[in-house]
Amino acid sequence: MAIKRIVKYGEPSLREPTKEVFKVSKKIQDLVHDMLETMYSSNGVGLAAPQIGVNLRIFVIDVSGENEPLHPLVFINPKIIKKSGSICTQEGCLSFPDVYTDVNRAEYVMVKATDIKGRSFVMEAKDGSLLSRAIQHEFDHLEGILFVDRCADVEQTEQELAKHNLPKIEQDRLIKE
Ligand code: NI
Repeated sequence: MAIKRIVKYGEPSLREPTKEVFKVSKKIQDLVHDMLETMYSSNGVGLAAPQIGVNLRIFVIDVSGENEPLHPLVFINPKIIKKSGSICTQEGCLSFPDVYTDVNRAEYVMVKATDIKGRSFVMEAKDGSLLSRAIQHEFDHLEGILFVDRCADVEQTEQELAKHNLPKIEQDRLIKE
């Protein structure tokens, strides 16, 4: 296992299209372990493959609390089957160090994916929970969509980005839902 460098906002791999995983091979399992190790080493809640420069449809999440046992979740080839409701809360992203901004998300999400053993599963996340928001945030990474594209307040987000010397919002990528 290895800790990988996390790609920062402004680098092209965050916007590149991702490919389906053909088979959950040993190589893919090793990649997933690297993603988990990288996420834990940065105290992140989630990490998507494009964030370590790999254009595959994989993300990992762990929403366990500080004094709880680790609870890694692995999503390979995820599909969002249902979503409903709407909620606006603050988010951050490992590719945007120290940047936080309010983002609009669905409250409820149902996702189908493959796990690290190649088994298919369906998961629901309700009530705008951290898990629900993390699934949507990480899924977006696989589509080349970043949380600032969904920000609730463009001006405030611009200020946050400028404060941390990150590139400006790409106006043509803004999503209003
Ligand atoms: Ni992110």
